[in-house]
Amino acid sequence: MQKINISNSVDSLFEELKDIKPSSTFVLTDTNTLKLCWPILQKGVNIPADHVITIPAGDDNKNLESLAYVWQQLSEKGATRKSLLINLGGGMVTDLGGFAASSFKRGIDYINVPTTLLGAVDAAVGGKTGINFNGLKNEIGVINPALSVLIYVGFFKTLSQENIFSGFAEMIKHGLISNPTVWKHICETNLDNIDYQALPKLLHESIHVKEEIVAVDPTEKGIRKALNFGHTIGHAFESHAIERGETKLHGYAVAWGMIAELYLSHKKCGFPKEPLYQAIQFIKENYGAFYITCKEYDRLYELMTHDKKNEEKDTILFTLLSNIGEVKINTIVEKQEIFESLDFYRDSVGI
Ligand code: GLY
Repeated sequence: MQKINISNSVDSLFEELKDIKPSSTFVLTDTNTLKLCWPILQKGVNIPADHVITIPAGDDNKNLESLAYVWQQLSEKGATRKSLLINLGGGMVTDLGGFAASSFKRGIDYINVPTTLLGAVDAAVGGKTGINFNGLKNEIGVINPALSVLIYVGFFKTLSQENIFSGFAEMIKHGLISNPTVWKHICETNLDNIDYQALPKLLHESIHVKEEIVAVDPTEKGIRKALNFGHTIGHAFESHAIERGETKLHGYAVAWGMIAELYLSHKKCGFPKEPLYQAIQFIKENYGAFYITCKEYDRLYELMTHDKKNEEKDTILFTLLSNIGEVKINTIVEKQEIFESLDFYRDSVGI
């Protein structure tokens, strides 16, 4: 398993880094984390200024050009097979940096230091790395876990409330796919007033859900698909928002997707009403709504057929739940049922 350290104190992060003895260390940042996070990390590590590699921020830059730039910098600055790359950033940086490290000289070690809540609970953990290519998200990449994931929750204090909520949506998902105790802790969280002292414990519990699943199925042949709960409809919402010229944060789209997929879980797998309404209430209160009309259902359906998790053309496979922690992967759902779930979503959020 990857080593994961979560702390309120940046010194704990420095302690972890002290024990690693690479021949040389490089840091990858984007233009935002260079300004906001590198000054904090820099205090506890001895890394020369020319070993800091910076790529432009934003998912549009998770591309071949940025990747080639990282390879070029590592090569020109004399990185060897024993060098270490520290990825300091959100999912874009940890995905691209993880792939750059996994492919440079056939693979060097890397450490993820996620600076967003979304990155900490999802992208930085579990070894998925890669870039967008040919207009497709995460089209090229490998699964190769970081040596360790070091989480300093102080970095999250500079995030907007929307970005905190976006990351928390993946924690809601972890609650639903794990067990009633984790789920209870999620429901008890007051998102308007995050308790940063208590956050490491909550994060630990949530990340552990993902770690355990990835340990059993690192390459997503089976149960790792549990982590896709809410994402089939969520991704369609996210892509459709872009088509409409709007941007919706990933976690928000997943939260709305979970409402529809909980309906499907209830209808097809008997997911009980009590946690169904509990989850809907929590999402509705904190995430508002994505406005859609029934005229958009066909387009949303078409977007769902492009989901790379589908194994056959025109068959949409969902990860559903028969109860908290009882996951049913590869459930075929018919078009009519998907439309019903979109009706349910609209009713639930009151649009
Ligand atoms: N983000 C889902 C996974 O890592 O499998």
